[in-house]
Amino acid sequence: MSISVSSLRSGLHKKSFSYSTKKYPFRQEIESILGINLEDLHLYLGRFDKFQRSTDQCTLAHKVFYSTFASTLQPIYNSFVKEFIYPIVMTDFYYQVIPTFRIGLPGNRFVGEYHKDSKYNHQDYEINFNLGLANYEGNASLRTEDFPGSDNYISLECPYGRVFSFDHIDCMHGSEINDTNKTMVSFDFRLALAELYFDTDSSSVNMNSSFKPGSYFSVECVNNSSSHLH
Ligand SMILES: [Fe+2]
Repeated sequence: MSISVSSLRSGLHKKSFSYSTKKYPFRQEIESILGINLEDLHLYLGRFDKFQRSTDQCTLAHKVFYSTFASTLQPIYNSFVKEFIYPIVMTDFYYQVIPTFRIGLPGNRFVGEYHKDSKYNHQDYEINFNLGLANYEGNASLRTEDFPGSDNYISLECPYGRVFSFDHIDCMHGSEINDTNKTMVSFDFRLALAELYFDTDSSSVNMNSSFKPGSYFSVECVNNSSSHLH
């Protein structure tokens, strides 16, 4: 039976889910690597011009996150995707191997420009999830159209312990200037639904990696049995 990814994506749009931070202690792991509270990151990172699309992945904290990911967060993240995300989606998928790390500094924005991800080569077979780690609220949170083409923007907040999905392909989205005095920290990741996933020569602009299995997306296809192995 064929599934409609756009109806799955719009069904999950704006939906938020609560998970156990004891079982999946993402923030504690990152804070123990950095040695500081995440919402205080701006006190240590130095000053930045307003982020553009080309610079919103440039801080030292981004480099630390990506360079330590395999040895620290990867096992927790892999289990989380299989055990917690699969039962939400209930259809087989490949998943983003390394999630995209986001930082919203006070006085700055965490997404360089308003866009739909289709503009960045992301394909229609994707589902997107966002996981707040610190201060993902108010003007530090994500702004998105409430439905495709509406031009009516809403804020999606994500306190630590929650994960939400939104329609990143069809809805314009971005971020405003963080007017709080705390850093917003989050990561987000995409799934490629197995039934619709196709080989593509396009690649991610942020990660500069191919969307083929084993590069941007996992080699492993997560299915009902892998979700129960852990
Ligand atoms: Fe996006």
